[in-house]
Amino acid sequence: MQLKNILCMGAGYVGGSTMAVIADKCPHLRIHVADINLDRIAQWNSERLPVYEPGLDDVVRRTRGRNLFFGELSPQVIAEADVIFVSVNTPTKTYGQGAGMAPDLQYWELSAREILAHATGETIVVEKSTVPVRTAEAIARILNTGNDERRFYILSNPEFLAEGTAMHDLEEPDRVLIGAEPTPEGQRAAEVLAEVYSHWVPRERILLTSVWSSELSKLVANAMLAQRVSSINAITALCENTGADVREISRAVGMDPRIGPRFLEAGVGFGGSCFRKDILNLAYLCEQFGLSQEGQYWKSVVDMNDRQISRFVRAVVESQFNTVAGKKLALLGFAFKPHTNDTRDSPAIRIATQLLAERAHLVISDPQALDNARQDLAGLEGEVAFEADPYRAVEGAHAAILITHWPEYIDLDYRKIYSVMVRPSFIFDGRSCLDHPALFELGFNVYPIGSPPLVHD
Ligand code: NAD
Ligand code: UGA
Repeated sequence: MQLKNILCMGAGYVGGSTMAVIADKCPHLRIHVADINLDRIAQWNSERLPVYEPGLDDVVRRTRGRNLFFGELSPQVIAEADVIFVSVNTPTKTYGQGAGMAPDLQYWELSAREILAHATGETIVVEKSTVPVRTAEAIARILNTGNDERRFYILSNPEFLAEGTAMHDLEEPDRVLIGAEPTPEGQRAAEVLAEVYSHWVPRERILLTSVWSSELSKLVANAMLAQRVSSINAITALCENTGADVREISRAVGMDPRIGPRFLEAGVGFGGSCFRKDILNLAYLCEQFGLSQEGQYWKSVVDMNDRQISRFVRAVVESQFNTVAGKKLALLGFAFKPHTNDTRDSPAIRIATQLLAERAHLVISDPQALDNARQDLAGLEGEVAFEADPYRAVEGAHAAILITHWPEYIDLDYRKIYSVMVRPSFIFDGRSCLDHPALFELGFNVYPIGSPPLVHD
């Protein structure tokens, strides 16, 4: 197959960023990114992209209109495509069988049916979305129902980028995984895709596996990363009670090369659009195969995360003499991690919701995520204000609660902050990233995660 045209269905975080990098690295290819959400397409074509991702603007500016095009999903772009990436959302199902656990595959199936309706000749269909094992098989059955000359080859090519570092992760990936059928046609299709990546990824980092191993590897990778976060978080309460410091423990433990230093930062818990959803997906898959203990094992990673959030909120309320009703509390950070405007499943949403249920008055601050925060909290009962300037957010507050460790929050002038807060002043460090003795010296009562609180008499 002579590859010329690529189509990506789904102009989200993954589709938009991934295609921008392919367009940049492969100027000889023509790449269309299409979405059913036309507002999103308009944003991709504007000066303000729908995704805040360091470095993305530059790549889009270089490629858009040259060999990268954002537009609506038309029969023509499907018909012209040699390779179609499907990068649509696969959220947790909220209805019917498997509600709350299984992924909702309706967008994926609709995409497959659109492809079936309009594709011509030979088409390679690439699973970019994270999906349960054997989705490719189901998609192949849908696509191969036609009694015609057309041919579809299904590949699994999961994405491992993390938000905030997506451009680096795409430009220098640890590995690119391509799952293909063990047939000569399947292997040929995998080679076409591998050739695209080989324009900038060293060949030894492109792994060819079976389709099912590739699909399952994606779920396992996310489950194991999240499990590390829950494991270190499961130590924090013990540290707070015994006088140990979880940061010292992460360092000491992480220096063992068999364990490694990454993903051992304790905090208010993991968020983001994928960890919870993918672990629940894995747990559901185990249960479907009658492996309920294995399913429970993975589900406990999510349960630990929920517990960490409630424990944090309880510490806030208890420290405020058991009531936050009517008290102003400033939340510093709302994005699920720094360097992104994404708030999907951010711990901040659960923390804010639980504090509002306690009738606290909240002021939310974040350098990038306030638009999303407004949408997330819309409709909740209670008093919420939004303020981009952290110094104004803390004016008259009883407590400052750091949820997202944006670098600018680490460098704030905490003396100035202390001077405008109500006495006694409290600071909750939900990421254990601040200088706790220095804050205590300034007069704050300091509640870190994973080490005992520093409280003035
Ligand atoms: P997203 O919600 O940002 O984007 C998905 C887009 O698909 C939406 O804009 C939606 O309108 C569009 N869409 C839905 N049905 C469509 C259709 N039939 N045709 C065209 N467009 C359609 O989601 P995302 O964060 O980009 O994630 C996409 C997939 O990638 C998910 O399965 C996710 O698990 C996986 N993933 C995400 C990340 C991440 O960091 N966000 C990383 C790795 C993998
Ligand atoms: C994660 C994975 O890292 C990616 O490889 C994967 O492609 C992606 O999910 C996906 O499938 O969507 P992402 O969710 O963007 O990426 O961000 P991470 O850096 O993994 O952080 C996830 C959450 O864990 C954040 O809330 C972060 O604050 C938290 N975290 C991370 C910790 O609490 N401690 C740590 O040590 C690391």
